[in-house]
Amino acid sequence: MSRLRIGVLHGPNLNLLGQRQPDVYGVQRLDEIDDSLKRRAEVLEVDVEPFQSNVEGELVGRIQNGAVDAWIVNAAAYTHTSVALRDALVAVDQPFVEVHLSNIFSREAFRRTSLLSDVAVGVVTGFGLQSYLLGLEAIVGHLRSDP
Ligand code: DQA
Repeated sequence: MSRLRIGVLHGPNLNLLGQRQPDVYGVQRLDEIDDSLKRRAEVLEVDVEPFQSNVEGELVGRIQNGAVDAWIVNAAAYTHTSVALRDALVAVDQPFVEVHLSNIFSREAFRRTSLLSDVAVGVVTGFGLQSYLLGLEAIVGHLRSDP
C-alpha cells in the first residue's frame, strides 16, 4: 500500500525562523522544523512534503498542484487575510490542519481572526515546533480513521 502524502505549507516570513522574534516563534529554523516533521513522519510511515513561500499566489499554486492526501498549513500572516488560500484549500477538497507556532488568541486582536479555521479539520496553536508535530499526528489519525 502506498504511503500517505502530507503536504506542509509554510507562509510568509517563516523562512526567517530562528532569527525572527525567537521569544514568540522559538529558536528553531525552518529546516529544523521540516527535519523534525520528517523524523516523525518516518515513525508514522507517511511522507511529508514541505513548501515555503512569501508569495500568496505561489502557495495557491502549490495547493492546486499538490498530489497529497492532506495538508498541514501554517499560512502565517495570510491566515488572517487570504480569501485566495481559503478558496484554494476548499477547491481541492483535501483535509487540512491549521497550525501556528504562537498562540494566535493571546496576541493582537487581528490575529484572532482566521479565514481558514472553519474549513480546517482542526487547529493547533501555541505549542511552537510541537504544533507542527501534533498537527501531523492529528491529520494522519484523521485520515486513517476516516479514509
Ligand atoms: C503564525 C502567527 C501569525 O499571526 C503570524 O503572522 C505568523 C506566524 C504562527 O505560527 O504563530 O507569521 O502563523
